[in-house]
Amino acid sequence: MTTWLLTGGAGYIGAHVARELLASGRQVVVLDDLSAGHRERVPADATFIGVSVLDTAAVRDALTRYDVTGVIHLAAKKAVGESVEKPLLYYRENVGGMVSLLQAMADAGTRCLVYSSSAAVYGDPPWSPISEDTPCAPLSPYGQTKLIGEWMVRDEAVARPLSWVSLRYFNVAGAGSPDLGDSSANNLIPLVFAALDRGEAPRVFGTDYPTDDGSCVRDYIHVSDLSEAHVAAAALCESGEVATVFNVGTGRGASVWQVMATVSEVVGRDVGAVAVERRVGDPPELVASVDRIAGELGWSASRDLRDMIASAYAAHR
Ligand code: WQD
Repeated sequence: MTTWLLTGGAGYIGAHVARELLASGRQVVVLDDLSAGHRERVPADATFIGVSVLDTAAVRDALTRYDVTGVIHLAAKKAVGESVEKPLLYYRENVGGMVSLLQAMADAGTRCLVYSSSAAVYGDPPWSPISEDTPCAPLSPYGQTKLIGEWMVRDEAVARPLSWVSLRYFNVAGAGSPDLGDSSANNLIPLVFAALDRGEAPRVFGTDYPTDDGSCVRDYIHVSDLSEAHVAAAALCESGEVATVFNVGTGRGASVWQVMATVSEVVGRDVGAVAVERRVGDPPELVASVDRIAGELGWSASRDLRDMIASAYAAHR
């Protein structure tokens, strides 16, 4: 039986990954400073360590004490708008966090790493669907820090033995169970439910984009599918030498209007979404090419937009 340490394992995505790893028969150590995570989301059969990934000595001690095989590095700041206002915070936490983690792993001799990267590394790519070979040109400090993290992992793996997979998440949504919803209200689907709670109309940011219905198209991926991809990536790292980047999406796009229509179906009434001005910096269309992850990891998403919205709604209620 192997043991995996999850930085940020008490967060929205991490809590799902922790459960999926336990279900796969692995042992789990969650390391989380609870700046955004919730202690009660850590499963009872996982070990919890309440420190920041910036505490290199504490990470090294945890890796050694629990004889950790690999790390899934999810701990990071992730609000795009905030990153524009506070870039140094993002460089300190995300880039500094990666420096600290890689140092601790080198000291402890830990040889497997699965890294939470983001479709934000692509910026506004010239074509869609987006393959992993598309040039990266992030539009925000957040995206920059995620891309720098990928470079750091790659460089470290040249210098010493390290099997790694970077997962570029597209738009993560949904909940694996009603207690594990996304409580942050940063992203479209949680924002729609928050607006409905206030008795307000959900807003569609821009309806004059060059897309079929004029609203932006994204590749929404269910957090449970995403969690399964992490376990597959961990297994790949355990099996030998690997150094690769995978998009994690469904390969299918949904527009904001389609999201609104699906929310209306799920809640059983027209949510009355209204068109407003474009939000600055939103690319018209971001859809993953998922050929590489399907071919090399044998993973593909099985849940659809309705599953995401219905499970998010159940969690929100
Ligand atoms: C989705 C779509 C909006 C709110 C960001 C990051 C990405 C990742 C996920 C990670 C867009 C539209 C939104 C609203 C709307 N972050 N929208 N009304 O911007 O695709 O991606 O979050 O960790 O890296 O860039 O996600 O959920 O903000 O927006 O019309 O009230 O919904 O314009 O087209 P985005 P989002």
